[in-house]
Amino acid sequence: MNPLNIVILAAGKGTRMYSENPKVLHALAGKPLVQHVLDCAIALQPQQVCVVYGHGGEAVPKAMQQYPAKFVIQEPQLGTGHAVQQAIPHLADAGQTLVLYGDVPLIQHSTLHQMQQAGDGLVLLTVDLDNPAGYGRIVRNEQGDVLSIVEEKDASPEQREIREVNTGILLAPTGKLREWLANLQNDNAQGEYYLTDIVAMAVRQGIAVHTVQPAHEWEIHGVNSKAQLAVLERAWQQVEASRLLAHGVTLADAARIDVRGKLSCGRDVEIDVGCIFEGEVRLGNNVQVGAYSIVRNASIADGTLIAPYSLIDSSKVGANCHIGPYARLRPGTKLHDGVHIGNFVEVKNSEIAANSKANHLSYIGDSTIGSRVNIGAGTITCNYDGANKYRTVIEDDVFIGSDTQLVAPVRVGKGATIGAGSTITKDVPQGELALSRSRQTTINGWKRPTKQIGEKK
Ligand code: UD1
Ligand code: MG
Repeated sequence: MNPLNIVILAAGKGTRMYSENPKVLHALAGKPLVQHVLDCAIALQPQQVCVVYGHGGEAVPKAMQQYPAKFVIQEPQLGTGHAVQQAIPHLADAGQTLVLYGDVPLIQHSTLHQMQQAGDGLVLLTVDLDNPAGYGRIVRNEQGDVLSIVEEKDASPEQREIREVNTGILLAPTGKLREWLANLQNDNAQGEYYLTDIVAMAVRQGIAVHTVQPAHEWEIHGVNSKAQLAVLERAWQQVEASRLLAHGVTLADAARIDVRGKLSCGRDVEIDVGCIFEGEVRLGNNVQVGAYSIVRNASIADGTLIAPYSLIDSSKVGANCHIGPYARLRPGTKLHDGVHIGNFVEVKNSEIAANSKANHLSYIGDSTIGSRVNIGAGTITCNYDGANKYRTVIEDDVFIGSDTQLVAPVRVGKGATIGAGSTITKDVPQGELALSRSRQTTINGWKRPTKQIGEKK
């Protein structure tokens, strides 16, 4: 295949977003609009990607600096043709150039691939709309050959009746594109250099003009306002939900799930309403996710139950675990099989071996916990002395009584028991009982104070 250049236009101001941030940096499904386009572009393995930016200073190149793209400024913005002209010096003549838009985030690889297969010459992505208002119209002759694109503001009443519109996305031979762009004029209703004028130039030179249509209309929708962004977000979430359903996932309500990244599921997964999945999430077979849970960059192995209102972030959860309700797993948590983490338990940067339990109201931070350990309600690892953090090590088969504080660094030996209400500051030998609390006493005959009459507080 010919070497491919990709130009992404992203210089528009986005006035109707009413935001200090450039339009293309607003997020859809948790990712900036332009990043969706860049990801799709990179997947086509181009030799060069050029992003044309304008408004918002260096915000766009800075936010997207991890991409192997050339960032070219367009200042002032004199139209789509002028925008592509800014990129042209950075493109080699051989091969083709694909023009994409930073505010048309959902264009799919398969559609672009179809354009690449459409033949030599100029390839336009077009779509038939019931309401074509605002778009450039595709003008064809009686044989159905494309003659030109006419912008709405320049169109005759008859041309405005045409329902086939220009999505803006096109593929052109780079050498020809360079030549055509150099000949653009701005004698039109908007006084702009229209990229669309290259179509008539191609026709005049007898170069074939092909059209391709996208598989879904949402692929070509642009974002100009928060309202359009909200509509597109829902459209995309519906696509994600349909994909999960098609794969056999049970969704309590397909309209009440949000996937902001990549969610992959095994067999017989059930997801209740209001759940959010962010980054890369992998759910094994028979995993159940309770209502209003948030799972981010995590893997959950087979048969694990996540009860409602749990938050799992950058963690690895083993098989047949029971998490929540109201559990919080923070980054660096690794749970082996059969672990139970109950309500209002926070775990951070800790590894917990198989079949251990922390069922109620605990903080476990910077800890290594063995198998079959029972962590009583209200237990806290005191991992921070105000300056440094230290580890707590709890070996296999330990029983930690309720409301214990473990002041790190500290180690509790295998099979040891800690009495409830203890503050443990020294290592506990294996198999022993450790206690650190004063003995209970009874004050005989003690009376509660009573309210004195006539005295004001
Ligand atoms: C353009 C097309 C029109 C098509 C429509 C699809 C032209 C002349 N018209 O019209 O046929 O139906 O898109 O939405 O191309 N941009 C720049 N620099 C500029 C001008 C625009 O980067 O100087 C970028 C914008 O940020 C935007 C895109 O190009 O992402 C389209 O620009 P816009 O002004 O919205 O073009 P339309 O008038 O909608
Ligand atoms: Mg537009």
